[in-house]
Amino acid sequence: HAGEATATLHGDRDGGVISRHLYGHFAEHLGRCIYDGIWVGEESDIPNTSGVRNDVIEALKAIQIPNLRWPGGCYADDYHWRDGVGPRDERPVRVNIHWGQVLDTNAFGTHEFLNLCELLGAEPYLAGNVGSGTPQELRDWVEYITYDGDSELAELRREHGREEPWKLKYLGVGNENWGCGGEMRPEYYADLFRRYATFCRDLSGNRLVRVACGPNGGDRKWNAAVLSRASRQMQAYSLHQYTLAAPWNDKLPATGFDEAKWFSILHDSRNIENAIQVAEEEMDKVDPNKRIGLFVDEWGTWYREEPNTPGYGLYQQNSLRDALVAGISLHLFHEHNDRVRMANIAQVVNVLQAMILTEGPDMVLTPTYHVFEMFKVHHDATRLPVDLKGPDYEFDGKKTPALSVSASRDGDGAVHVSIVNTHAHDAMTITCGLEGVSSSAVAGRVLTASELDAHNTFAKPHNLEPEDFDGAKVEDGELTVEVPPRSVVVLSLTE
Ligand code: AHR
Repeated sequence: HAGEATATLHGDRDGGVISRHLYGHFAEHLGRCIYDGIWVGEESDIPNTSGVRNDVIEALKAIQIPNLRWPGGCYADDYHWRDGVGPRDERPVRVNIHWGQVLDTNAFGTHEFLNLCELLGAEPYLAGNVGSGTPQELRDWVEYITYDGDSELAELRREHGREEPWKLKYLGVGNENWGCGGEMRPEYYADLFRRYATFCRDLSGNRLVRVACGPNGGDRKWNAAVLSRASRQMQAYSLHQYTLAAPWNDKLPATGFDEAKWFSILHDSRNIENAIQVAEEEMDKVDPNKRIGLFVDEWGTWYREEPNTPGYGLYQQNSLRDALVAGISLHLFHEHNDRVRMANIAQVVNVLQAMILTEGPDMVLTPTYHVFEMFKVHHDATRLPVDLKGPDYEFDGKKTPALSVSASRDGDGAVHVSIVNTHAHDAMTITCGLEGVSSSAVAGRVLTASELDAHNTFAKPHNLEPEDFDGAKVEDGELTVEVPPRSVVVLSLTE
């Protein structure tokens, strides 16, 4: 059975830039994300560059990772940066109170993180400690990193091996301060944000984007209270939204699920748009000219941890279903590109909807990774609006759009169209008029499988990977695509 959809791609309209920062990442001191997943240490048998796994570096370079947020998450509001600088054998061992009370050696600290970002060509995004820290500690961190004069903190940085200051653009002022970051009322947080932001200065020509802590999903009360009190001091405002489709204490499994759970995750993944719209409404009131960016700096699927792994480690498998969630979410960020300027999927290695899984020396790239790789053609390209009329995917009395489509034109003039078909069984035929696109050739790739929970394991790391796609043709200014069920397709249209 096949559904029918019609569309018009407006190649003659400018839908704004799709910032590459919508394809951002997040690494927390949580489970095996930093330790094992990124940092193995210089003495490790696992091939590494200054202590960071080479396989992970190569994989992240291949998706042109635009930015990396660190050190949390919840961990950020109990992180004291001085613990993580200086000779590694002198750094204090601390208890990670948020994630399993495991001991953190602080081997991975400010220098290790900022040097890694340089190596990757990614912008660092630091999450500062508001919950258990002080304004002085945060302003000192900014000086230590960015000041090029002869202050004591800049000298300390030099003693620790870094002569030139780093450039630091993105600075989060707290994380989830309505919850793990201090259980604050929004009015109280708004005042703290203003206070902390005041002391985090632009030093030595560095320019900070100070990111205020935004809501959990579509919390209107938090949005209204924080934005009405503190918008003047912020350059960006964050938002967190996870997809669970289940209660917190009874999460769904990452693999081994039926169509009902396939559907419910794909259906609920679209809730992120509501959270974005709720924040946008309030931001438009205080900032109609859209000076302040909305950063969706934590998003993704959240399942039950894998059997025989600790609950606090948030280690989950990643299947074709997650690849589709990624495609739908990235398309929604494209649609809201006039306000949404950054997004960070949680998290980059071994935690939640990860790009990469590691086990000792082995590494697996997940289906979600492959979507980020396929979609990198959209980085910093101009969005081309698409009007789509397509069928719904109905299951058990509920429905969600079967298709999600987005298009862009890159700097070389090539047009790229990405398509998600959420339907578990039905192919979709899209007939798409091309306005202002003079292409005659089309090539593509597809990510799909016969099983709903297809995934990659250490035994079968290449089970699910993109393949060449020949189901599209362009004739007389019209694009026709036969989109397979449960798939992500990316097309390139050229002369
Ligand atoms: O990503 C895992 C956790 O989810 C983060 O630490 C926190 O910010 C959020 O609740």
